[in-house]
Amino acid sequence: MNVMVIGGGGREHAIVKALKKSSEIDKLYCLPGNGGIAEDAICVSVDAKDIPGMVAFAKENNIDFAVVAPDDPLVLGAVDALTEAGVPCFGPDKKAAIIEGSKVFSKNLMKKYGIPTAAYETFSDIDSACKYIDTLTAPVVVKADGLALGKGVIIAQSLEEAKEAIREMMADRKFGDSGLNVVIEEFLTGPEVSVLAFTDGNVVKPMVSSMDHKRAHDGDEGLNTGGMGTIAPNPYYTEEIAQRCMDEIFLPTIAAMNAEGRPFKGCLYFGLMITPNGPKVIEYNCRFGDPETQVVLPLLESDLFTIMRAVSEEKLSETEVKFSAGAACCVVMASEGYPLSYKKGFEISRDENMDAEIYIAGAKLSDGKLLTNGGRVLGVVATADTLSEAVKKSYNNVAKVHFENAYFRKDIGKRAMEA
Ligand code: AMP
Ligand code: GLY
Repeated sequence: MNVMVIGGGGREHAIVKALKKSSEIDKLYCLPGNGGIAEDAICVSVDAKDIPGMVAFAKENNIDFAVVAPDDPLVLGAVDALTEAGVPCFGPDKKAAIIEGSKVFSKNLMKKYGIPTAAYETFSDIDSACKYIDTLTAPVVVKADGLALGKGVIIAQSLEEAKEAIREMMADRKFGDSGLNVVIEEFLTGPEVSVLAFTDGNVVKPMVSSMDHKRAHDGDEGLNTGGMGTIAPNPYYTEEIAQRCMDEIFLPTIAAMNAEGRPFKGCLYFGLMITPNGPKVIEYNCRFGDPETQVVLPLLESDLFTIMRAVSEEKLSETEVKFSAGAACCVVMASEGYPLSYKKGFEISRDENMDAEIYIAGAKLSDGKLLTNGGRVLGVVATADTLSEAVKKSYNNVAKVHFENAYFRKDIGKRAMEA
């Protein structure tokens, strides 16, 4: 079969590498992919948001199956357009992708169906939002309704800061239309857990849990980033918590989406916080997480392509989803200065004796050389029997990857090992 993956980051590299193991795939394409993915799939320069472009490519190249990985094309309706063109897909349609595309929608969904989440109010005008803020005590969480490249969440330490965030979103339109509506919510505390789950709208099969490290610097200091590293499994996600999440969050969410006439098929990402009052949903994503995917898929023992097709055909209940008992660690190597300004165009080299995977996020090929081309450049991923071995092995291999201006956190997995 001919398969195309939409997207071009570290997550897509991990998906491509996992799909490559399937004997059923003849030709594997990635649109647009990147300089590193080009080692594992045929990269085609069609932008991940260019829906007519991907439909045309699929038709011209007899694509039998498409995996739409990033949030933008899902929310814009890529799956709808491809399905319409006769290409079966892994990923939710536009109606279901709204669970990530609109935080107002997802918060109202949780309220309506009694799914535990932070208390909140939604607003579409500045004055009412600011009046409401005056009734609260800091810290206050302000969220833009729509997609904002992961930057639309502000944890305001004072009421003035919260109002400033509201003005930036609603008056200055910092996030464009994404900030026309806002959610103001209660600040929760507790360890965070990411759970990616396969669902075909009928059953839900969670993957191994993971922990992201979102801040730029060690000790969870510095600016929020797209993610500086991950580990799996997450030690805070005990069997007891997992059972509660299944009963109180996962199954109710699938049922709620069905009841709303928006059945979700694909990978549903639950961003959870284990609060003193039990697990609560911080956010839903309608897709695989990045860099969670980079630690989850290497632990998947079942065939990813078989699972993806089963999801698409609503046969997930008959399909095995098995993970190894081991652990994985991903250390992201970024360009110094990320997430603000940074230089790029430096050659990436690696020693011969690596015993870890490299998933390339931001690099391009130029005259046969791999050059840095983004803030997050790559992830070094090691698996082992235990978390501490996986962490050690990742860092040993980080030392074998070289490019000028490289920056990485030294404490990925530390908090998990202390748990
Ligand atoms: P997001 O970009 O939606 O993943 O949110 C970024 C981060 O903000 C989350 O990973 C949490 O650490 C934090 N966050 C979001 N909502 C809340 C909340 N209600 N209480 C505390 N922290 C939050
Ligand atoms: N790692 C968080 C996300 O993918 O949104």
